[in-house]
Amino acid sequence: MMAMQTGESIFTPYTEFIRTRRTRMTEGLRSMVRETVLTPKDFIYPLFVVPGKGVRKAVKSMPGVFNLSVDEAVKECREVYKLGIPAVILFGIPRHKDEVGSEAWDADGVVQEAVRKIKKALPQLVVITDVCMCEYTSHGHCGIVRGEEIVNDPTLELLAREALSHAEAGADMVAPSDMMDGRVAVIRATLDDHGFTNLPIMSYAAKYSSGYYGPFRDAADSAPAFGDRRSHQMDPANSDEAIREVAIDIEEGADIVMVKPAGPYLDIIRRVKDEFGMPTAAYQVSGEYAMIKAGAANGWIDHDRVMMESLVGIKRAGADMMLTYFAKEAAKLLK
Ligand code: PBG
Ligand code: ZN
Repeated sequence: MMAMQTGESIFTPYTEFIRTRRTRMTEGLRSMVRETVLTPKDFIYPLFVVPGKGVRKAVKSMPGVFNLSVDEAVKECREVYKLGIPAVILFGIPRHKDEVGSEAWDADGVVQEAVRKIKKALPQLVVITDVCMCEYTSHGHCGIVRGEEIVNDPTLELLAREALSHAEAGADMVAPSDMMDGRVAVIRATLDDHGFTNLPIMSYAAKYSSGYYGPFRDAADSAPAFGDRRSHQMDPANSDEAIREVAIDIEEGADIVMVKPAGPYLDIIRRVKDEFGMPTAAYQVSGEYAMIKAGAANGWIDHDRVMMESLVGIKRAGADMMLTYFAKEAAKLLK
């Protein structure tokens, strides 16, 4: 190593022998010192289920993502399972929307039917259901609306009914994404009362009010008709508050806690994992997916490389599992 020209060397007598590149010189060596390794087991694949038969409708702002009727969703799940991905999460788009989102807890609703058919075809696949009202309400809000307010407590009962109907259909796990206060406790109590004491809850615990959900609202037709979700979802500027949110959900009985979105909130994932040591999920949301797809479609970034880098970053930050629209593509690359 070259001697420094003036002053004292910043190196100790030994650093000139240190070359961090030595363990980077071949793929074999790199693989030996690699700290974070992705596997298809890390992924949860989101599916958007719609009424009808043989429906496979592309979502414009999410290339590669489709609105699927139940029969098509079952086919998709076969492929997911074959790729070694352990779980899917289902979102439903109902036949009719109304003020209170009645189809959310309808035993013959689209998600409930999808759960029954998927579990019958693939008993080993873990079927998670998203529990929220915004796909089912005519106003697109995550709860009951009075005036301009999304009212918390009256919404809890509906969320509990929805979660119970998913459990009765055979779901393996429910995932409340509404961000109402107290919903984990109410869902836990309702499930327990009906004999589902062993059914886990994955709570969207630190869910931010994010611009990155835009494409999802196309896919789920759930954009709010007025106002926004800032009264219940978190302010992107807050970190300590995320710790409080997660602590509350754990106290109420959450088995897995989620941070959402993922990429812009890697610091939150790390804090949550370090603070609680709980099974921690991260949701790489629609906007994160869409940006990578758009950049790659323009030839501005290398699709596969950036996809894998985004996922390994989320795992490195501390996520034990990731909800990602890239699940199938990434699993194929990992095979
Ligand atoms: C419903 C819900 C949303 C997402 C997951 N569940 C949208 C929202 O809160 O507006 C977003 C997922 C994504 O963007 O991929 N509450
Ligand atoms: Zn919602």
